[in-house]
Amino acid sequence: ESPDVEWIDIGGLDEVKRELQEAVEWPLRYPDLYTKLGHSVPKGILMHGPSGTGKTMLAKAVATESEANFISVKGPELLSKWIGESERGIREIFRRARQAAPCVVFFDEIDSIAPIRGMEGVNAGTERMVSQLLTEMDGIQELNGVVIIAATNRLDMIDSALLRPGRFDKIVFVPKPDISTRLKILEIYAKEKPLTSDVNLQRIAELTDGFSGADMSAVANTAISLVLHEYLQKYSNPEDAAKHASEAHVTMKHFEDAVKKIKTQRDMKPGEKLTLSQYR
Ligand SMILES: Nc1ncnc2c1ncn2[C@@H]1O[C@H](COP(=O)(O)OP(=O)(O)O)[C@@H](O)[C@H]1O
Ligand SMILES: [Mg+2]
Repeated sequence: ESPDVEWIDIGGLDEVKRELQEAVEWPLRYPDLYTKLGHSVPKGILMHGPSGTGKTMLAKAVATESEANFISVKGPELLSKWIGESERGIREIFRRARQAAPCVVFFDEIDSIAPIRGMEGVNAGTERMVSQLLTEMDGIQELNGVVIIAATNRLDMIDSALLRPGRFDKIVFVPKPDISTRLKILEIYAKEKPLTSDVNLQRIAELTDGFSGADMSAVANTAISLVLHEYLQKYSNPEDAAKHASEAHVTMKHFEDAVKKIKTQRDMKPGEKLTLSQYR
């Protein structure tokens, strides 16, 4: 699996990138140096933070930058794919990872497979899966080319046995983007787009307090889709549209309208979103 995400695709989060580089990339790239110096490295890194802050992207990017293979496992998919055979599923993943070393194994949404054991609603399959995960992590040798990364929006839901030394012993918080990060994210998605000179991305970053990285990418996307709608209304046949393609520009008004639109969607409850015809 090719992750296809690089550091430059991720706006801001410099501190998080630096921590991942040190915990994942350096040990994968320079195992001999670490062995020689006797420096211990975390076996597992757990990223947590609100949804849409870039955790999944970061895991992919650090695998790319480490020139490592990447095995990505979504918690919920693991549960459904290996129904009744959860231990075998986990064993299989670790077997593949060892074969593919250097390799990053990424457990996305790990709270769905590793919730606190003994808690109500946690079934026997899930409990066995956690136990198998613990066994596999304990069996991994440091610096043998396999690094485990996990991500969750719900740190409070994670079985504390997973957080003990030798397991997910490095915890990285991925925060909601501050204003400068929001600007950087906008710049990434607005890059090489035809913007009019009145577009002030700094101003858009100011207007989007509380937005996640995913919301920021939705703002840029929505601004562009507003242009498309306008444009195709004006030139309804492909020939006309092609002839006037160079006139299509994204203006400040498109960005401001996009912010309003995303704000409205953010404020809606999940059920209400289903009634929105253009919800994306
Ligand atoms: N820092 C960022 N830079 C660029 N895009 C981002 C950033 N954070 C989030 N995104 C956008 O939001 C989407 C969701 O991000 P994701 O990594 O899945 O978040 P999480 O895993 O934390 O929920 C990404 O696909 C990307 O489009
Ligand atoms: Mg994610």
